[in-house]
Amino acid sequence: MRTGESTSTTMSGPVSSGTGNGDPQRADWWRSAVVYQLYIRSFADGDGDGIGDITGIRAHLGHLRDLGVDAVWINPWYPSPMADGGYDVADYRAVEPVFGTAADAALLVDEAHATGLRVLLDIVPNHTSDRHSWFVEALAAEPGSPARARYVFRPGRGAGGAQAPNDWRSVFGGPAWTRVTDPDGTPGEWYLHLFDVAQPDLDWTNPEVVAEFESILRFWFDRGVDGFRIDVAHGLVKADGLPDLGVEEKGLLSPADRDDHPFWDRDGVHDIYRGWRKVADSYPERRVFVAEAWVSSSHRLARYVRPDELHSAFNFHYLNTPWDAAALRRVVDRTIATLAAVDAPPTWVMSNHDVVRHVSRLGRPQAVDGPAPYSLADLPPVETLDLELGTRRARAAALLMFALPGGAYVYQGDELGLWEVEDLPDRSLQDPTWERSGHTDRGRDGCRVPLPWSGTASPFGFGPAATEPWLPQPAGFADVTVAAQEGDPSSMLSLYRSALALRRTHPALGDGTLTWLPSAPGVLAFARDPGFTCVVNLSAYPVALPAGADVLLAGGPLAGGPLAGGSELPPDTAVWLATDTLDG
Ligand code: GLC
Ligand code: MG
Repeated sequence: MRTGESTSTTMSGPVSSGTGNGDPQRADWWRSAVVYQLYIRSFADGDGDGIGDITGIRAHLGHLRDLGVDAVWINPWYPSPMADGGYDVADYRAVEPVFGTAADAALLVDEAHATGLRVLLDIVPNHTSDRHSWFVEALAAEPGSPARARYVFRPGRGAGGAQAPNDWRSVFGGPAWTRVTDPDGTPGEWYLHLFDVAQPDLDWTNPEVVAEFESILRFWFDRGVDGFRIDVAHGLVKADGLPDLGVEEKGLLSPADRDDHPFWDRDGVHDIYRGWRKVADSYPERRVFVAEAWVSSSHRLARYVRPDELHSAFNFHYLNTPWDAAALRRVVDRTIATLAAVDAPPTWVMSNHDVVRHVSRLGRPQAVDGPAPYSLADLPPVETLDLELGTRRARAAALLMFALPGGAYVYQGDELGLWEVEDLPDRSLQDPTWERSGHTDRGRDGCRVPLPWSGTASPFGFGPAATEPWLPQPAGFADVTVAAQEGDPSSMLSLYRSALALRRTHPALGDGTLTWLPSAPGVLAFARDPGFTCVVNLSAYPVALPAGADVLLAGGPLAGGPLAGGSELPPDTAVWLATDTLDG
């Protein structure tokens, strides 16, 4: 019996056959889950203030149900001065009034569950807002006091302590230290902020910090939340003595040539997550974590998802891979092998709220050697962008990603084929990167433009008629609204819906393994048992499809004409085929 055979190929023990990947009762749902990233400020605005909110999400749960995702991850919705889009949290146990109320949040969790969606929140443990009560207390307190010991305060170096305690730089540009003024008006200690000056780093050697975050996890788990995405999961622990870095570095990524980085990916973070896992496992119904950890290799990433640590982690090595068959095959193989060794499911992601939308990355010349850039400042100039090519590749990339073993992440708007908005007026830019880089890096606002739902002019149904979205929407959004794409079988939205519907019911998809098939140079072809094959043509030439295979879903028109059975796969196109089950 074929479906029965397929269970022996999964890495996680039995997957009940016949239920597909969409059965919400499965305890291991997260191993196959497609998680939709909901950037709350830009998803849907219920009250017309131009900023997305919980009421807006509740009004559009039907979109997520029809899309066929399994869970949502909601970016931070806590009270925040919004110095960094909500990643500056002032109170971890409440909801930002601009986004709604605690009651709205409770309704959303219930309604999402009733729709068959799990809900993951975003927890920000590396730093708080400078308006968090702990930091306000710390500023008012003496050097050496318990209030200051929750953060990383240090005396300055040099005469009068006028120089920063070390040479670390903020991810957003500029020094990672800011000097405070003491209550009596004299210059005082410095505090560490790996990100914006409004995001002071917590001191995770302090047991009070450890206890506080475990309590925050429980607070939301008790309210039915199914899990958390962990912000900057690789940054919490700093090297004793805070040694100089010695080189100029910028970004979230711990460099590959260094395994003793003073603040990225230090061994001590793993103890923290072992504690968090115990908290999650104390609940009868599964609670899960996904780590945002920008680390140097799949091996380093696998350490975060060992059996007693986190459940899953974003695969940024995949996001970073150029559109190149050999490079993709390498990263897929490495991912599957390293994660299988710790019995964690692979995950795949193309875009999120921090990187240039992949339509706009794939539409540019691809890196030949090494990782592909993902920030605007590092990408080839906009003059090299071919949006049509990027869109075609994005369709192929979607079929590739959803066919790979494990879980996948969709960033809101991926399903509409949204591109990076690269011509936002300077005065609209809100990402702190823009200011902190001295206006040299335009930052991440271009992937955060509010979603187009319907209509032919802004706000495109993002909010009530007169709403002015917090970032301006381009006129071109008229062609890609949900309403415009819904009835069009050739739209990106239709492709996503078809792919996710198949993924839910096809027993070969989701968690498991793959087998590479022989293929022409520049072509990826793999089988998944039972009876499924994915072929992606990244070469410049059409390639013949295996004879006699039934097309389940094609990313674009097949060549060879109907008489020839549409038997050729054009460049930058992917196809899902029903094939004979491999022996084994
Ligand atoms: C993560 C978030 C990013 C934020 C940063 C600081 O990388 O994804 O948006 O700016 O952490 O919290
Ligand atoms: Mg609003």
